[in-house]
Amino acid sequence: MADRQNTNSFTLTNNQTGESVDLPILEGSVGPGVIDVRALYANTGHFTFDPGFGVTGSCKSALTFIDGDEGKLMHGGYSIDELAEKSDFLEVAYLLLNGELPNKAEKEEFDYAITHHTMVHEQLVNFFRGFRRDAHPMAILCGVTGALSAFYHDSTDINDPVQQMVASRRLIAKMPTLAAMAFKYSMGQPFNYPRNDLNYAENFLHMCFSVPTETYEVDPVLADAMDKILILHADHEQNASTSTVRLAGSSGANPFACIAAGIAALWGPAHGGANEAVLTMLDEIGDRSRIPEYINKARDKNDPFRLFGFGHRVYKNFDPRAKVMRDSCHEVLNKLGIKDEPLLDLAMELEEIALKDPYFIEKKLYPNVDFYSGIILKAMGFPTSMFTVLFAVARTVGWISQWKEMIEDPLQRIGRPRQLYTGPTERSYVEMDKR
Ligand code: CMC
Repeated sequence: MADRQNTNSFTLTNNQTGESVDLPILEGSVGPGVIDVRALYANTGHFTFDPGFGVTGSCKSALTFIDGDEGKLMHGGYSIDELAEKSDFLEVAYLLLNGELPNKAEKEEFDYAITHHTMVHEQLVNFFRGFRRDAHPMAILCGVTGALSAFYHDSTDINDPVQQMVASRRLIAKMPTLAAMAFKYSMGQPFNYPRNDLNYAENFLHMCFSVPTETYEVDPVLADAMDKILILHADHEQNASTSTVRLAGSSGANPFACIAAGIAALWGPAHGGANEAVLTMLDEIGDRSRIPEYINKARDKNDPFRLFGFGHRVYKNFDPRAKVMRDSCHEVLNKLGIKDEPLLDLAMELEEIALKDPYFIEKKLYPNVDFYSGIILKAMGFPTSMFTVLFAVARTVGWISQWKEMIEDPLQRIGRPRQLYTGPTERSYVEMDKR
């Protein structure tokens, strides 16, 4: 049906009528060009069909680039390995929000602004009290993040660049506070106020693990590891939750509501919920002798089981984040003096067996970012139900940067996909006594 005509356009021919249409190819700065199908319906009367948006570009973006075949991830042109090694989370946040690394003064101003917006309105505490103690912290986070729009009316005008900036900074600053409150609430412990003398990762650990009866010293090893985890999860171009944020935002919804929508999309086990699912799976496998049984389950077409932490829509090679995460995992366990962590041994064995398995080789299924993160988080003292919450804290930076980019994009209009209708054709209403 279609044949490549030249480097900057594509000709699509209807093989019944012989009619053809030329579609321009748009080139990005790196990566494959995209066929611009915007004029397709007007010129052919047809839409495109792409469930799961596997080959559909929904926007232009200058924030993050992924080369899935090479296993490469870059923010603003900087590789994730280099950022994880040399940068810190707030610097990466600045880079994503502004497109450039900050100079010294810009970094100091940004760090100060984020640090000094970490407190939440005291009345938000009442929202937490409305949840059952056994509520999943993602349920709580989803609810209270949406509620922020009821507290910060002065930063919900999406057309005012100052309000956009204030809302972005508020979200980045307050998300760890809300996440830590969700954690404390589930344990029946008092909430901790943020501390301005600590950096972003240190303050988060303080809010999660400090109790009023003892002095809490933040372990620098854990703070470093937390910062790295945040960097690795900061953004990942147009994934399900980011696309959800953009779609919600395309209708003009305020940024707090959009981020709440992103949190909901992240929760699923195919996306951010996979880090929790990996640990549940490793617990269930329990012993290396049972690995083959689970590999077989993953291969079985009639079994819905999937090996969590494996596979990715875009990466058909190692997820570069998984490599950094695995190294960091060893580092943290070593520094904490945890010599034998049965779950890590099991994970490494599972990885080794899966990577040699013909099914995983054929389908190009490699460990993703979620495979090792849970083991580090567990060693830090987080329960599994908090893993996806931590992902949400980090990804808030990506979500809000992508939201801002969308709002500023002159091409932006409400997201509204089409469909292939397969239901009944028009028919007359049937009265109840005749059905
Ligand atoms: N275990 C077993 N088989 C798998 C797996 C897996 N983890 N992942 C993919 N496959 C198979 C799948 O059954 C399909 O087989 P077939 O061609 O015979 O139908 C083939 O590989 C392609 O998979 P797909 O579902 O069409 O691929 P997708 O791009 O729609 O899904 C994915 C990507 C990440 C949802 C999927 O790989 C998966 O469910 N992985 C486990 C969950 C997970 O670890 N998610 C975290 C992703 S990374 C972090 C994030 O995005 O938040």
